[in-house]
Amino acid sequence: MAQPVLQGRSILLAIGGGIAAYKSAELVRLIRKAGGDVRVILTRAGSQFVTPLTLAGLTGNKVQEDLFSLTDEVEMGHIELSRAADLVVVAPATADLMAKAANGLANDLASTALLATDKRILMAPAMNVRMWLHPATQRNLETLKRDGVRFVGPDAGEMACGEFGPGRMAEPATILEAIVEALAGPTVIPMPDWQAPAAAAITGPLSGRHVLITAGPTHEPIDPVRYIANRSSGKQGYALADAARALGARVTLVSGPVALPDPPGIAVIRVETARQMDEAVEQALPADLAIFAAAVADWRVEDEAGQKLKKDGNAIPPLRLTENPDILARIARHPTRRPPLVVGFAAETETVIAHATAKRLRKGCDIIVANDVSPASGVMGGDRNIVHVIDAAGVATLPDMAKAEVAAALMQRFAGRLRSGA
Ligand SMILES: Cc1cc2nc3c(=O)[nH]c(=O)nc-3n(C[C@H](O)[C@H](O)[C@H](O)COP(=O)(O)O)c2cc1C
Repeated sequence: MAQPVLQGRSILLAIGGGIAAYKSAELVRLIRKAGGDVRVILTRAGSQFVTPLTLAGLTGNKVQEDLFSLTDEVEMGHIELSRAADLVVVAPATADLMAKAANGLANDLASTALLATDKRILMAPAMNVRMWLHPATQRNLETLKRDGVRFVGPDAGEMACGEFGPGRMAEPATILEAIVEALAGPTVIPMPDWQAPAAAAITGPLSGRHVLITAGPTHEPIDPVRYIANRSSGKQGYALADAARALGARVTLVSGPVALPDPPGIAVIRVETARQMDEAVEQALPADLAIFAAAVADWRVEDEAGQKLKKDGNAIPPLRLTENPDILARIARHPTRRPPLVVGFAAETETVIAHATAKRLRKGCDIIVANDVSPASGVMGGDRNIVHVIDAAGVATLPDMAKAEVAAALMQRFAGRLRSGA
């Protein structure tokens, strides 16, 4: 029998004060059925709609209601509660809880947990159609999305209040699907870089801009101990991140597994697989400039083994591969949040410029930076690089330089493109 999809996963469920709270009892049942553990925070208003007794019975855990409950602080304080889970789900997310979370208010247990957590948050809003469409709620929604909060629903339809329109909480089965999807990527949100204010203090042509960069290889697991990888060191991508920061940008660096330390003043998100990188890139949007310098594995193993593959006589295990997400092409054609300038990297071992020119058109990006990574070039893992910058106007080849100098020269060009809006 297949393993339940939420086996070993723990969900912190905050239930707000709306009629849809009764559906959250069903959601708890579905999460439990899928193998997940649930801890509930019930707001004071939420307890008007569903009782702690029902939820304790369904979860098998004590329901948390009070920020200042001393025994709970001793057993599991509000910080621990908000971090012990793999995902925080708010269902129903009331207009009030959304407003508090969007503004960083923390005056009860639910809102404090939302502010203190280091995990992803998924909200399932539920409210009267006018409350949902109110500019204040829509503003809060945008703010929360920018902060990385995910949303499922609301649906449109007839509401308990007799009105019609968007505002009905998504069905529990749909919320469960969103939970499984949210847990597929990295769950811990990296700590915002406390040195970032220093970075923001640098003024330059990229001040006020957000630059998103991917770097390094990806590791695609075969089983818990083996993986498919490539020789990318991440040096060029890290140098680009430093160069963007030096020009005043706020920089997010999504890095595959590399041996390099986190560059100062830069928000670094470490991932392993292509799918995690894709997810982290999506979460980091919007950006003014996105540079995809990572060497993302084109393929991953279709059926990753749950246990280490064993030698079994002479039988050699077949590795069936399947395609990974094409992060560059997806972002270059993003329907709503395409960065104004999208740059791809092409690592080629032959007919470098022709291949890279074709790649630019295929992927839909504005610029391709091509380099020769054949073993003779020494680029992969080395400290120097010769790059060709290919855009709609043609090809410019930069001289042989250290990767840091290549990065600085490229970033000046990109900043110029952004300034001119070309
Ligand atoms: C009968 C009734 C139904 C309500 N339904 C909702 C609702 O569906 N969504 C919502 O945002 N607020 C709803 N409210 C208002 C919230 O309960 C109120 O804003 C409360 O302060 C929310 O607290 P909480 O966010 O801490 O749970 C309702 C209020 C009442 C009296």
